[in-house]
Amino acid sequence: MIESQSTPWRRASVSINPDALSHNLNLVREYAPNCQVMAVIKSNAYGHGMLEVAEHLAAADIFAVAMPQEAFALRDAGCDKPLVVLHGFNNTQELDQFAALNISTVVHQRSQLDILLKNETSSAIDVWLKVDTGMHRLGISVGEVDEFFGQLRNCEQVNDVYLMSHFANADDPNNKLNINQLESFLNVTNDINVNCSMANSAAIMGIPKSHFEIVRPGIMLYGSSPFSGTSAVELKLQPAMQFESILIDIKPVKAGEAIGYGSTFSSDKDLTVGIVAVGYGDGYPRHANNGTPVWVSGERCALLGRVSMDSICIDLSDVDVKIGDRVVLWGNELSVDDVAAASNSIAYELLCNAGAAYGSNR
Ligand SMILES: Cc1ncc(COP(=O)(O)O)c(C=O)c1O
Repeated sequence: MIESQSTPWRRASVSINPDALSHNLNLVREYAPNCQVMAVIKSNAYGHGMLEVAEHLAAADIFAVAMPQEAFALRDAGCDKPLVVLHGFNNTQELDQFAALNISTVVHQRSQLDILLKNETSSAIDVWLKVDTGMHRLGISVGEVDEFFGQLRNCEQVNDVYLMSHFANADDPNNKLNINQLESFLNVTNDINVNCSMANSAAIMGIPKSHFEIVRPGIMLYGSSPFSGTSAVELKLQPAMQFESILIDIKPVKAGEAIGYGSTFSSDKDLTVGIVAVGYGDGYPRHANNGTPVWVSGERCALLGRVSMDSICIDLSDVDVKIGDRVVLWGNELSVDDVAAASNSIAYELLCNAGAAYGSNR
């Protein structure tokens, strides 16, 4: 475990485990042994710190980020790995920067194709043509693929062309849209002889036929399960983020007395309540429900009442702990997936928010 990332005025800390990142990447390779791995490190590597994660995941083949600025920051920091920008460029200036820095682009809409075709100044770049097979977010329609592909192939500003698509529901293995999307993409790719990519984490584990030549894991690299019914431990994933704080107070609260802002919770029995130095200002989910698990000195305790900006209350009635004891919000002792489920959220959001509270470019 590397040194924890804390700011001087915070008691809570976030630390990243590089061994877990490597372990999870190895697991991707076990699921998709014949594929290249495009590690998705957008949104500050899901809150884990983009630059640091890029170093620890040097064994990946390619990195994907969402925004041009993320790719520029990686190049600035000396990263020389193949980079793909999932949102692509928006204007000629960005395209020129991609070309100058050897950054590959996704093309997901016609205005990007037009810019590429008109541009005469840039050197050639690799293009990932994104096809919308049913998610209806980014991507050209299946019917436009032949035209776009032909134009890209004949464009002097373009080196290699790849095809990609993205699942809307891969985390739900029984969802019919998965098969429909895969069939649409297979129909498109059957006639075009280029390398293709479709699988995110859930599809890497659940839809082997979608692996093609390049897989694109995100959440599984960080040790969270993409499936709500299957735990990260069952999938042999290891958590890459450890989010901790300490117990700063312990007090009795009488039956019937309400706890926290809004007085939303009271118990029908006397309680011993612990106060933990962490809150939504540290990235802990504001909407964590009463009962959300919190780990203290070997025990799973329950969150009580509303989350404050810099503190939470937990039920210590049945445990023997003391002020100053270590508290784990999520990490090795407690899965972020369990906390997300109790907060009406997803691990992706919790990890991003905790990471955001601890600086942007760790
Ligand atoms: C285009 C694309 N590919 C791959 C991924 C990785 O997905 P996951 O984190 O579910 O593995 C994402 C993440 O949202 C994405 O937007």
